[in-house]
Amino acid sequence: MQTQGNNMDPWYGLYAARTAGLSASEVRALFAVASRPEVVSLAGGMPFVSAIPKDLLTGAVERTVRERGATALQYGSGQGMPALREQILEVMALEGIHAGVDDIVVTTGSQHALELVAKLFLDPGDVVLAEGPSYVTAITVFKSFQAEVVHSAMDDQGLQPEALRETITRVRAAGKKIKFLYTIPSFHNPMGVTLPWERRMEILEIARQNDILVLEDNPYGLLYFDQAPPHAMRSIEADGVIYLGTFSKTLAPGFRVGWAVAPHAIREKLILANEAAVLSPSSFSQTVISEYLGSADWKGQIDTFRGVYRERRDAMLSALADQLPTFSWTVPTGGFYVWLRLPDHLDSKAMLPRAVKELVAYTPGTAFYADGSGRNAMRLSFCYPTPDFIREGIRRLAIVINGELALLNEFQQTGPVSTLPAESEGVLPPFAG
Ligand SMILES: Cc1ncc(COP(=O)(O)O)c(C=O)c1O
Repeated sequence: MQTQGNNMDPWYGLYAARTAGLSASEVRALFAVASRPEVVSLAGGMPFVSAIPKDLLTGAVERTVRERGATALQYGSGQGMPALREQILEVMALEGIHAGVDDIVVTTGSQHALELVAKLFLDPGDVVLAEGPSYVTAITVFKSFQAEVVHSAMDDQGLQPEALRETITRVRAAGKKIKFLYTIPSFHNPMGVTLPWERRMEILEIARQNDILVLEDNPYGLLYFDQAPPHAMRSIEADGVIYLGTFSKTLAPGFRVGWAVAPHAIREKLILANEAAVLSPSSFSQTVISEYLGSADWKGQIDTFRGVYRERRDAMLSALADQLPTFSWTVPTGGFYVWLRLPDHLDSKAMLPRAVKELVAYTPGTAFYADGSGRNAMRLSFCYPTPDFIREGIRRLAIVINGELALLNEFQQTGPVSTLPAESEGVLPPFAG
């Protein structure tokens, strides 16, 4: 008898065992409330697409329909359009990656590339090494293939090489099979931190020594505020790295176009898996993006995004310094996220309903761990709200946190207080990013 599913569901006993991790949570209900306009949401990872001048895209869409409709409205290649793959080479060259057109597989967002890589490599019980914390929906994907996600410690410079060595030794001593290391080296989701060049080299060396494939996920690398991050890990190592890119953050997620760059044998399997899943990625979206890249000042547009996000990052950091001066947080030099650390006895997940009542939302740290860690941290996104809303959101958050601290003080409690049912452990909220 299967145990997953909902007992109001007549198909309860029929679901595959791998769906066990795909249950809805009470946090999902809270996020539905949090999407009301009166709530300042610092929770999602939605890019500020209003910053794109619409006429730049209107022209590309119009030309796609008028001039390239015969192919843009048709099925396409399972590997993606050659013309777009050529242009992706130009995008990746900005991060030091030199590859060939044939090395690229276009996917339905990088999320789908994560799913395809998981499908190719993961059997039940396999281990995926990931930063702790890590991207919530990657964890969901790996768990949906019944893999175990084992986190390795990070600091404010990303994954710690020594901790990674120890994690590998520990996992192997337990007789488990490591399939790959999943990492977000630039402007990490959720921590916002960036792995320095020396550490990139060191981690690749550890992976090489231990025959571990690296899955490098890089949606934010071009969204730096002052200085470009170190070149991608794929620029150093071609044979042992699968690299994922996307147009979601530098253009718009609505197109659902991302890509994978993989060593030859893996790439051939990725193409077959892509065809099995979607036949071909959207020809229409690929053609519009190709038209856009060919006609618009896309680098200038990315620069505009950088300016928008830099201003929002600054607003968040200065609001945190004003409102929560005794706390600590990461200082991102690009991307969308700040990681706020709370005193040990505060529980960001238990506090979320009170925050939503106070009209501010964030993502509790627990969402970013497969093992229930992260209660005394939260992810704050600065990508979507305007600077004024960010300042107001942090003001409200400080009221909630200070109220919680005062309450705990009053009752002289030292352990975490949870208002959420125990079965909610490790269940992830539904939000973009
Ligand atoms: C680290 C990371 N990987 C992948 C994705 C998925 O992006 P896409 O829209 O390309 O599927 C996101 C989206 O937020 C992300 O933050």
